[in-house]
Amino acid sequence: MGLNVNLAGLELSNPVIPASGTFGFGYEFAELYDINILGSIALKGTTLAPRFGNPTPRIAECTSGMINSVGLQNPGIDAVISEEIPKLARFYTKPVIANISGFSQDEYVTCCQKANAVKEIGAVELNISCPNVHNGGMSFGTSADCAFELTKAVKKVLSKPLFVKLSPNVTDIASIAKACEEAGADGISLINTLLGMRIDLKTRKPVIANKKGGFSGPAIFPVALRMVYEVYEAVKIPIIGMGGVTSARDVIEMMLAGANAVQVGAANLIDPYACRDIIYSLPEEMEKLGIKNITDIIGGAH
Ligand code: SIN
Repeated sequence: MGLNVNLAGLELSNPVIPASGTFGFGYEFAELYDINILGSIALKGTTLAPRFGNPTPRIAECTSGMINSVGLQNPGIDAVISEEIPKLARFYTKPVIANISGFSQDEYVTCCQKANAVKEIGAVELNISCPNVHNGGMSFGTSADCAFELTKAVKKVLSKPLFVKLSPNVTDIASIAKACEEAGADGISLINTLLGMRIDLKTRKPVIANKKGGFSGPAIFPVALRMVYEVYEAVKIPIIGMGGVTSARDVIEMMLAGANAVQVGAANLIDPYACRDIIYSLPEEMEKLGIKNITDIIGGAH
């Protein structure tokens, strides 16, 4: 049974990757199971300077999902490279995906330049879709022109594959994916979270201190699937599909829509073994569905 996939030159032993922001820097999970079974790991979103993140509360529960407004809390790219990645390298021997965020084009470019020099980093995921920060993140990903300019700028300093992570909070995600492809992106990651909010009935105020946040979890799976389907029809570069994936059957469905690999996000926050269990159950689900090689089904629903 063939589980291996190729992501713009990056060979993965299987298509399952924990999504950025739901798996720390990976080593935190190494005491639970052998994390080398993972196809790759998308590291916690990283910015040039360290960030404390948004005020609390940052999390709100929802039916079939959750809202977060973490605000890109991270120790900064230099500490990620000198401390976090070496800790992860003690447990994980495969290439990882660095998730890079920023507040200006220069910041994104500097971070990508630094990430490009790290041997453990196999690809960069450019986060132009964080809904929880002002003047950065999603503001680059909701305009095709901005996405084009930024992609073009970071491509100049990267020799490693570049995946641009898109926001679902747009009217036409396919046009933004196309702009990134035209600017030289090697692949597209989608979707980030949907902008949402909750109100506390007792206080009559928003639950999240920042008022709004990013909605994720199983409720968004059909939206993510639809967007992967649309982007597959618009671009030729590989797609990493994500959004509400909780099972091997969801992975297969995402790949039928057009994903070459699949990230698992909020499910890790409910069950730290989610990725492991999905990888273990993939061969059985494939056998039931008559799938020999997982790559045979990519885009099969079109
Ligand atoms: C956050 O740190 O606020 C979440 C990251 C993201 O949604 O890109």
